[in-house]
Amino acid sequence: MKIFSPHLLVFFFLFIVVRSSPEYTRPDPRPLILRQHDRSDSDPQQVHISLAGKDYMRVSWITSDKKVESKVEYGKTTGKYDASATGESTSYRYFFYKSGKIHHVKIGPLEHNTTYYYMCGGYGPEFTLRTPPSAFPVEFTVAGDLGQTEWTESTLTHIGAKDYDVLLLPGDLSYADLHQPLWDSFGRLVQPYTSTRPWMVTQGNHEVETFPIIYPHGFKAYNARWLMPHQESGSKSNLYYSFDVAGAHIIMLGSYTDFDSNSDQYNWLQADLASVDRTKTPWVFVLIHAPWYNSNLAHRGEGESMRKAMEQILYKARVDVIFAGHVHAYERFTRVYDNKADQCGPVHVTIGDGGNREGLAMLFENPSPSISLYREPSFGHGRLRVFNSTHAQWSWQRNNDSDSVTGDEIWLESLSSSSVCKQPKVSPKSLNDEL
Ligand SMILES: *[C@@H]1O[C@H](CO)[C@@H](O)[C@H](O)[C@H]1NC(C)=O
Ligand SMILES: *[C@@H]1O[C@H](CO)[C@@H](O)[C@H](O)[C@H]1NC(C)=O
Ligand SMILES: *[C@@H]1O[C@H](CO)[C@@H](O)[C@H](O)[C@H]1NC(C)=O
Ligand SMILES: [Fe+2]
Repeated sequence: MKIFSPHLLVFFFLFIVVRSSPEYTRPDPRPLILRQHDRSDSDPQQVHISLAGKDYMRVSWITSDKKVESKVEYGKTTGKYDASATGESTSYRYFFYKSGKIHHVKIGPLEHNTTYYYMCGGYGPEFTLRTPPSAFPVEFTVAGDLGQTEWTESTLTHIGAKDYDVLLLPGDLSYADLHQPLWDSFGRLVQPYTSTRPWMVTQGNHEVETFPIIYPHGFKAYNARWLMPHQESGSKSNLYYSFDVAGAHIIMLGSYTDFDSNSDQYNWLQADLASVDRTKTPWVFVLIHAPWYNSNLAHRGEGESMRKAMEQILYKARVDVIFAGHVHAYERFTRVYDNKADQCGPVHVTIGDGGNREGLAMLFENPSPSISLYREPSFGHGRLRVFNSTHAQWSWQRNNDSDSVTGDEIWLESLSSSSVCKQPKVSPKSLNDEL
C-alpha cells in the first residue's frame, strides 16, 4: 500500500517554503479518513447514482451478502414505492481481495427536476435523489482528484452546502492505488453526496491499477464500481462516454486509453461531436484528466500527446470549456487553440484540487504565460451555473477551513451563440469528411 510515499515529504516541504498569496495561509495535507460499514451485510453501502440515458438513472451499490437481489424500489413519496426495477451485478478479485456484490440497476423513465425516494435490494435505509431539470437553469459542481482525506471531507461539505444538479469529476477518485479496501472506504465517504445527486466521473491515473503480467489491462476496480453510461452513448468502453443534461452536452474522455486518430476513442468522439445539435444542447463541455494546458511545474507535458491528437476536432466542434484534473491546484486559461489565445477555442480549467493525500502542487512557471488568467494552489471545487443558452457563470470555491470562499469567477458566453464562431451547418457525414 503506497500511502506513505516520498512525495508526501516533498509536498510537505514545499508547503513550508512556498507561500504565494500573502493573505491566505496554505494548509498542510491532512490525514486519511477511513469509513467502515457499520450496518448488516445485506444493507446497501457505497450507494451512488449516475445518469443512464434519457430519463434514466443507474443506482449502484455494494452488499457483503451475495444473496441480496439487484433490485431498486422507488417512488415520489417517502416509504411508498410504486415502481421497481431489477438490474445486474458483478464482483471482482484483485490479488487476495474479493469485492462485495456490486449492483447496478437502471430506474426510469423518471420525471425531471423531481425528488424520488428509493430502497436498494429490499434492505434499508431509504435514500433520496433528485433528477436534473430538463431545461435551463442547471447547475454543475466540478471537483477533481478527490481522495479521502480530511480535506476531501471539507470539500464535500462545501459541495453539499449548496444545491446543485449533477457533479462532474475529471478523474482520480479514491487514491486506492491497488489497495482495494480504500475503494470501499471512499464509496462510504462519498455516499451522502453520491446517493442524492448523479455523479458523472471519468478516470485518472489513480484508477489505472495495472500490475505487470497479472493485471495488464487496468481499470478493474473502476470499471466494476463506477459503471458510466457508455453503452447509452454508443461507446464500447466505460473509459469514455457522453450524456446530455438540460441544454448541455457533456463528453467524458479517457486520458489513459488510446486516443490517436486510429483509436476507438477518437472515432467515437468524432461521431459523438457530429451528432451534437447545438439548437438542443447549446453548450458542450469536455472532461479529461491530464490537462492540455498547464503552467504548474507538476505534470508538465503529460497531456500533450492527447492535445495533439484531439484538440483540433474539439476546436472545430466549438467546445465551450475543457475541465481537467491531475494537477493539484486551480488554473484557468483564456479561450485557446494550439497554444494561442483564440476567441473560438475552449476555456481550459484545471480543477485537480479536491483534497487528496498528495497535497497541493505549489509551484507555477514564472512569469505566468499570457494565456493563463488565474492560478492558485489551494484546495477547492468549482461551480458551473448555466442560466440559459447563452450565459453561464463559472466560479472556483477555495476551501478555507470551515468556509468556502469564491476565489475566481467569470461569465461564459456559449460559442454556439457567437456570430463569429458559428459552425458551418453540416450533416454528420460531411463533418466527418471535412475533418
Ligand atoms: C425545479 O423545481 C423547483 C421546485 O420544485 C422549481 O423552483 C424550479 O424552477 C424547477 N427548475 C426547473 C429548471 O424546472
Ligand atoms: C441569459 O442569462 C443572463 C444571465 O442571467 C442574462 O443576462 C441574459 O439576459 C439571459 N439571456 C436570455 C436570452 O434570457
Ligand atoms: C479564511 O477564514 C478565516 C476565518 O473564517 C477568515 O478570517 C479569513 O479572512 C478567510 N480568508 C480568506 C482568504 O477568505
Ligand atoms: Fe492524477
